[in-house]
This record gives sequence, C-alpha cells and structure tokens, in this order.
Amino acid sequence: MSSLMKLIKYGGHYMPNIIISLVAMVIQVVTGFYVIRLMVVIIDDALPAMDTTLLLRTGALMIGVALIGLAMGIVNNFNSQKVAMYVTADLRDDLFEKIQALSFTNIDKFKTSRLITTATNDVQRIQQFFQMLLRIIVRAPLMFGIGLYMAIDTSRSLSNIFFISLPLLIITIVVIMILAFPRYMKVQKTIDGLNRVTLETANSPRVIKSFVTTDHENERFETANQLFKNTNLAAEKISFAGEPIFMVIFNATIAGILFLGAYFMDQGLLISTVSGVALPDVGLLMAFNSYSMQILFGLLMFAMVMIFISRALASANRIVEVLEEEIDLQDCVDCIEQFDVAGSITFNNVSFAYEKDGNRVLKDISFDIEAGQRVGIIGSTGSGKSSLIQLIPRLYDTTEGDVLIDGVNVKQLNIKALRSQIGYVTQTATIFSGSVGTNLMMGRPDASFDDLERATKLAQADDFILTYDDLFNHEIQQKGTNLSGGQKQRISLARAFVRDPKILILDDSTSAVDAKSEEAILNEIERLSHRMTTIVISQKISTIKDMDKILVLNNKGRIDGFDTHENLMKHSEVYQEIALSQVGGGVPSA
Ligand code: GTP
Ligand code: MG
Repeated sequence: MSSLMKLIKYGGHYMPNIIISLVAMVIQVVTGFYVIRLMVVIIDDALPAMDTTLLLRTGALMIGVALIGLAMGIVNNFNSQKVAMYVTADLRDDLFEKIQALSFTNIDKFKTSRLITTATNDVQRIQQFFQMLLRIIVRAPLMFGIGLYMAIDTSRSLSNIFFISLPLLIITIVVIMILAFPRYMKVQKTIDGLNRVTLETANSPRVIKSFVTTDHENERFETANQLFKNTNLAAEKISFAGEPIFMVIFNATIAGILFLGAYFMDQGLLISTVSGVALPDVGLLMAFNSYSMQILFGLLMFAMVMIFISRALASANRIVEVLEEEIDLQDCVDCIEQFDVAGSITFNNVSFAYEKDGNRVLKDISFDIEAGQRVGIIGSTGSGKSSLIQLIPRLYDTTEGDVLIDGVNVKQLNIKALRSQIGYVTQTATIFSGSVGTNLMMGRPDASFDDLERATKLAQADDFILTYDDLFNHEIQQKGTNLSGGQKQRISLARAFVRDPKILILDDSTSAVDAKSEEAILNEIERLSHRMTTIVISQKISTIKDMDKILVLNNKGRIDGFDTHENLMKHSEVYQEIALSQVGGGVPSA
C-alpha cells in the first residue's frame, strides 16, 4: 500500500483540480439526496392534498437540482481526468529519466521488456486508478454515510435489515481483494513475457525471415499470449464473480425492505394521517428504499475502488521498484567536475565480472598507454576485448583494480565530463531514426556544418553522404535500415570524430568497411595522433600491425603481450597463431 501512497503524492502538484473535483462531487451527492427529499414532499404532501401548485413547484425544483447535480458530475469528471493524465505524464517522465540513469547491471536485473511494461502498461493502470479515485473516493463514503443516517432517521425498525446485508457485502469485498491482488501481480509479469517476445521479433526481422523461424516465433508468442490470457482471466474471474454476488445481496436487501415495509403496514405500524384519515405511509417506505439504494450503491462503488486498488497496487509496486532502484554506477560525492583529458590510460591489476560473484572475463590486467599513442587490441572471440574498453568511459566499474586516466582514477572523475571527451564507436554500429545530421550531432550538439563535413571526411563517409541531394538532412529510417553495414559503421565513426575526442575507441568499427576506406581511416587516425589517444580493436592483424603498440588477450581473459607487431611476432604465442591463420589475408609472416 505504501507504494501506492508514494504515487498518490504525485497528485500534490494538481491540488486546485483535485479540490474542485472533490467539491463538485460533494455537491452532486447532496443534490441526489435532496431530490429524494423533494420526492417525499410530492408523495406525502402534494399528491394526497391534490395541491397542483405544490406539485409543480416541487417538480420544477427537482429538475433544477438534478441539473445542478449533472453539471457538478461533469466538473468532477473533467477535473479527475485531467489530474489522472497530468499525474501519469509526470510519472512517465520520472520513470524515463530513471531508466536512462540505470547502469547496465541495473538494466540486466530488470530486463528491457519489464522496463517497457512498467513505463507503459503499469503507468496506464495508475492513470485508471486516479480517474476512479477522484470520482468515487468521496462519493462512495458520502452516499453510504448520508444514506445510512437518513435511512435510520426515516425508520429505525426497517434499518435492522442492514445488520444482515452490510456485513455480507463487506466480507465479499475483502475476500475479493485478498484473492485479486496476487493474481493481478502475475498478470503484469506475463505482460513482460509478451513484450520480450515482441521486442526480440521486431528487432530481428531479417534473421527470423532468413532462417525461416517465423513458425517458431509464432509459437513462442502464442505461448506467451496464452499465459497472459489465462492469468488475466483468472484475475478477472475474481472481479466478475463479485458482481453477481453483490447484485444478489443488493436485490435481496431491497426485496427485504419491501417485504418488511408491507408487514409493518399490515401490522398498522407504518401509518401516516392525512386530513384525519390514517393511511399506509407509502412516502416513508419509498424514501427508505431510495436511501437504501444510495447506501448499497455507495458500497458497490467502494467494491469497485477496491478492485481497482488491487490492480493499481500491483503496478505501483513495480513502478516504485524501478524508481527507487539504487544505481550502482554513480558519480562520487566530491568528484573532479571539470578537467581536460590529455589521454594517458593506465590499467592497474584490473579484474572484471559482469555479475557479482560471476565469472571473471578479465583477470589481472595491467598496462600503460601514453597520451597520443595508437594502440591495437587483438584476441580471439570472447577474449574480453569489448569488456576491457568499456571500463575506460566507465560504462561498467572494475570488479578489482583501477582504471586511471592521466593518473586519476576514473571513479574520481565526473562521469558526464569524462564520457564527453571520449569517442567510443561500439562493435555494432548503432544508428537512430532521424537524419544523417541528427545522428552525427549526437557526437556534439553544437557542431557546425563544417564540423560535420570534416568528420565525415575523416570517417571516409563523404563518398556517400555528399552524394545525397539533401546532404546531412538525408532521412535515416529506424535502426538505419536504409544504409549498408559499412555505411552505418562510417556514420558511427563520423559521430565519434565530430566530438573531436581526446580518446578515440574503435571496437572492430571498420570490419564492414572496404580495405581502401579502412586504410584511409587509419591514415587519418595516424595524422591526428598528436591530438588524441586511439584504441583500435580488430580481429585482423593488417588493421593494427602499424599501431604504436598492440595488446594481445588470450582466451582466459589475461594479457598475452603488449608490444609492437615485430616484438609480438617473436614473443607472443597467441599473436603468432592469429598472424599465422591470417597469412592469406595479406599479412607478411615474420
Ligand atoms: P568479440 O567481440 O566476439 O571478438 O569478443 P570480445 O573479445 O569483445 O569479448 P567480450 O568482451 O564481448 O566478451 C567477453 C566475455 O564476456 C564473453 O564470455 C561474454 O559471454 C561475456 N559478456 C559479454 N557481454 C556481456 C554482458 O553484457 N553480460 C554478461 N553477463 N556477459 C557478457
Ligand atoms: Mg567485442
């Protein structure tokens, strides 16, 4: 319940709307009771005395009061919708901000599909809850409370019926809530499953189609869909079962009132005297009946709120869990905020595992790179090359040992300032929908046209970008589907060059680029080496052999050598093996 209270606090910013909504609701409920009062006047006074003036006047007043009730209902509805929309928009903003701030370890824990469900479906449930809350929270207790007071005031003896029906209704509501909550929690989890399959399928249409695994994917989706349907049905069944039970108790109470009323009249107890004649008090019975309906409707609404609360509670728990997740990779308290990176990099006995107590993918790694040096990294697939370089912009923290830049531990540096001076081109080129320009300017938002042009030339991307009629405005589809693999890599490279970084890291970023362009890119890097330190990961010796130094990783996550090509060919077994396997690829054997 505390998680729901935390979200209710979001309503605090919209107090005026909440107050207007609640006041309108109070007026609407009061007008409802006033209409019953006026009805009693018509039945008890106007009709028996055949007083048409009183009849017309009371009738007109009834219509006026009912119209005010209607208007207040609209005011309440409008304001409660508004508050619900605004609150959930704020909630979505906060969630999005938090999700952006989560570290990779945090994201691995939650899983992407779960974060998507929370930011969409869970928030939607909170929106429905807010709409419901403001419409019913005041109405239900008011209808119940005033109704009960008026009913007892009208007839104490008839009110005895509530001793039976009210406990029955309350017990039903409590049982439904206890049964529904865990089921709704399960429903949200099955939505995560649905999202996961949909995400994976939507992300890899080419693989699925080329491997003809559409049937397999359909089956996977079908399983997740069935699970969602069945879990949802199990939860909804509980709510559905409640409705007929409520209606039976509701109707039995009304029937009981009429039965008791008739019995009392028969016994000469419910009698009123009009013009000296003793008649059964029909007005009183009708009024009592109407008050009872208000009481029962009040309770029914309360039951509905309870069902919405069970649903909302499941979602609120999940939202608050994300909002309160402790980010494990944060800026230190007294970080160095402003600094200019010169470019030297030191690894001191670094070990790294992706998970706590998990398998170490890097073990006891130590090396020094001087500012302006060009360093290649090579090693077999899965040897830990990508893992190693991700420690430099502090995408992950080391498990043991330290990474230093210009002699300062990266944990002592403001993360944003550090990352903004590093150009990191990931192993799989990541392109966003938009234009070539918007993709490049992610490197530096204030880049000028000349900056973009210079960066595209350095990345050898000018040969295709400059042929577009609309140049940098050329549209790029989602995930860069209208670009070739090599074009995507060159745009990613250009994005890093736009930044004019002090440290440039290329993770196998020229693998899909033709040999001539790759050579040109490497020449540009050499020309710029007085301005930046460069680390180039590659599977090909031909790409890195001219670098100042080459770091060789063995398949146990340890360093096998850190030297020049010539020396490694003499001393590093791993390097020799790789070179030997690539002799046909144009690398002269030593
Ligand atoms: P290639 O890019 O294929 O040449 O390999 P690499 O040398 O870049 O290897 P990488 O650093 O990506 O992976 C080293 C080890 O870490 C492998 O055994 C992977 O299974 C593991 N690994 C990589 N990324 C992750 C991750 O995000 N989570 C977890 N748990 N393990 C990972
Ligand atoms: Mg890699």
